Parts: sequence; structure tokens; C-alpha cells
Amino acid sequence: MAYRHFEFIEKHVWLLGILIAVMVSLGGLAEITPLFMEANKVQPAAGVKPYDPLRLAGRDIYVRDGCYLCHSQMIRALRFETQRYGAYSTASESVYDRPFQWGSKRTGPDLARVGGKYSDEWQRLHLMDPRQVVPESNMPEYPWLALALVDGKDIQARMRVLRTLGDPYTDADIKNAPKAVAGKTEMDALVAYLQGLGVDNVPAAPAAAAAPASAASAS
Ligand code: HEC
Repeated sequence: MAYRHFEFIEKHVWLLGILIAVMVSLGGLAEITPLFMEANKVQPAAGVKPYDPLRLAGRDIYVRDGCYLCHSQMIRALRFETQRYGAYSTASESVYDRPFQWGSKRTGPDLARVGGKYSDEWQRLHLMDPRQVVPESNMPEYPWLALALVDGKDIQARMRVLRTLGDPYTDADIKNAPKAVAGKTEMDALVAYLQGLGVDNVPAAPAAAAAPASAASAS
């Protein structure tokens, strides 16, 4: 008798279409709803703080100038990745990244742990003209960053917006932001941001990944 019902549905394409749509929606909801619940559960791990004003400015320049088009900030939990770059990335280190910079496009190396790998001076030279320090590099140069100053009021406004989204900036943090970036160029900000990657925003590395991390920096 059930067979006859199926036959009826299969012979009426519109009904079949509607029932398929209903089933696909139910399946989709069953998969997507728990993910939304999960997203709210991701908490910053101990030691992960919102960006200070200079690094926040640097992060925005990183996004504005499209560094993410060639660089990911997501180390996969695979041995050859952790050996090259260091501890694999976790969701909790990106809670203050809006938008996150994970990505998978790697024309250049992953930058999630690049902080402290080179001196500030190296980073500056490299951004002015990558060929000065890496002759075979095909990374573009960004000399204008050294000419533009960071706008303190703008950073304050950004911090206020981030606070409405849940970043724990205090009134004092926001009030002092223009002082923190006074006289700093976009180059200073971007270098500060790069030097914080994998240093300030990383929770204590899982023991298994810690060893390859030191092996990578030794090579
Ligand atoms: C067209 C692709 C491209 C773009 C866009 C690009 N890079 Fe690169 N980047 C590379 C390549 C290729 C390398 C490797 C060669 C080198 O070190 O210059 C590299 C290397 C680097 C390194 C050194 C990484 C390491 O571990 O040795 C840093 C830091 C870096 N880029 C930062 C940036 C920043 C910041 C921006 C944006 C202002 C940017 N890159 C934009 C391609 C790119």
C-alpha cells in the first residue's frame, strides 16, 4: 500500500519537487543549526587579547592592501605544516579577527606564526622592496606605507565598533588609542601587526605541535 503512495509521488513531479525541497531543508537545518551554536561557544583562549590600537591599524592595512590574496594565516594540523610553520591554528586564536584571515591561497608562505621570525628592520626593508632581502621574491612592494600616518580618530571609531561586537576594549583603551598611534606610519602599524602574529594571539601550543615548532625556527 505504501508502494502506491510512492508511485503517486513519483508520477507527480511538482509534488516530488516540493517533498525533496522539504527534506533537503530539514537536512540542511540539522547540519547548520549545531554549527551556529558551536560558533558562539568558541571563546578566546587564555592569553588571546584583542589587538592593541597599532596592531589593529596594521591589521586593517593588511586587509586593505590585499596581503591575504597571497598569504594564508591558517596552519593545518598536518605534520609537514607544523614542521614548517609551527603550532597549528585553532579557532580560539581568531576570535578577535574580523574578518578572519585563514585562507588557503599561498603564493607566499603562511604568516600565522611569522611574528618574531625576522627583525622589524627586515620587515620594513621587505615591505619597501622584497627583492632587497629575498632576491628571488615576486612579492609586490609597498613603499607608500612609509609615507602615510595612522589616523587615531579612525582607530578609535573602529575600536568602538569592535566593542559593540564583543571585543573587551575599556573606555580607557579607546580614549588612549590616538596617543598609542600618534606619529606612527602605516608601515609601523603593519610591522607591529606582523610581529604579533603567532606571538600575542596564540594560546599555549598543544604539546604535540610544540616540538616541530622549534624545529622549524631552527632551520
Ligand atoms: C603577489 C603575492 C603577494 C602579495 C600580494 C603579498 N605577498 Fe608577501 N610574500 C609573497 C611571496 C612569494 C613571499 C616569499 C618570498 C619573500 O619572502 O619575499 C612573501 C613573503 C612574505 C613574508 C615573509 C614570510 C616568511 O616567513 O619568510 C612576509 C612577512 C610577507 N610576505 C608579508 C606580506 C604583507 C604584509 C603583504 C601585504 C602588504 C604581502 N606580503 C603581500 C607574495 C606576496
